[in-house]
Amino acid sequence: MLVTGAAGSIGFATCEILAREGAKVMLVDINEGGLEERVKALSDAGYDVVGHVADCADEAQVIGYAEAALDRLGQVDGFFNNAGIEGDLAPTHEYDIAMFDKVLHVNLRGMFLGLRYVLPDMVRRGAGAVVNTASIGSERGLAGACAYNAAKHGAVGLTRTAASEVAQKGVRVNCVMPGVIETPLLVGMLEQMFDDVQTGMDKLGEVATLNRVGQPAEVGNVVSFLLSEEASYVNGAKWEVDGGALATIRNDL
Ligand SMILES: NC(=O)c1ccc[n+]([C@@H]2O[C@H](COP(=O)([O-])OP(=O)(O)OC[C@H]3O[C@@H](n4cnc5c(N)ncnc54)[C@H](O)[C@@H]3O)[C@@H](O)[C@H]2O)c1
Repeated sequence: MLVTGAAGSIGFATCEILAREGAKVMLVDINEGGLEERVKALSDAGYDVVGHVADCADEAQVIGYAEAALDRLGQVDGFFNNAGIEGDLAPTHEYDIAMFDKVLHVNLRGMFLGLRYVLPDMVRRGAGAVVNTASIGSERGLAGACAYNAAKHGAVGLTRTAASEVAQKGVRVNCVMPGVIETPLLVGMLEQMFDDVQTGMDKLGEVATLNRVGQPAEVGNVVSFLLSEEASYVNGAKWEVDGGALATIRNDL
């Protein structure tokens, strides 16, 4: 199994679940120190994991992690294409152009590059599954997050397109749409939106029918399912993991 953004909350929680289920996992992240800690934590717990530092938006480094994965894992059965950044928040009519480019570069180009260089071996072997990380921001406007939202809407487009292209080669491509999940990425957004992070967390929790924010492992469990054979008839799908936020008209985000 290959996971990007693996030093982060959702990525790491997913690595832990996949490793617990018996998979050998390669963790990829740009954050070298964070990655080292995560790899050590899983190795110390007795799991079979390796780390690889890479910028997922840099073509040469994506080629590097795709090749390293084949080398270190033998083959990639499942790929969680998850690395992402939140970017700054500002109204669209005031949004910084360089920041817009940066968010699209990492979140959309990076996702495309992952598909571009990991899918070929899966297609060649006629087997494999991919999960891209989209967001509830793939379905709704989140005020202040035009770049993030544009990228996450694009993530669904990439998912559906790739899914339609490789399905008959034995490869499935789906995406998860996490809602409000308690991670540093969320805290980064809340710091920009609210005076007090906990107040923001409670307020955003109310957007979900379950009336709380989610935990990274609650996303990881769905990713693990989608990467598994149990999801053999699921392709090109968007899986909301949002506590029911998108199911209602309570969209205060
Ligand atoms: N936290 C939420 O509420 C939420 C909601 C919806 C979607 N998401 C998405 O989930 C994914 C994971 O985010 P998270 O919440 O775990 O945040 P996180 O900040 O904990 O993890 C993101 C990880 O991606 C890594 N990363 C960033 N840019 C990279 C690059 N260029 N190359 C390689 N690694 C890079 C970071 O170092 C970090 O470890 C992201 O795609 C994010 O957009 C998060």
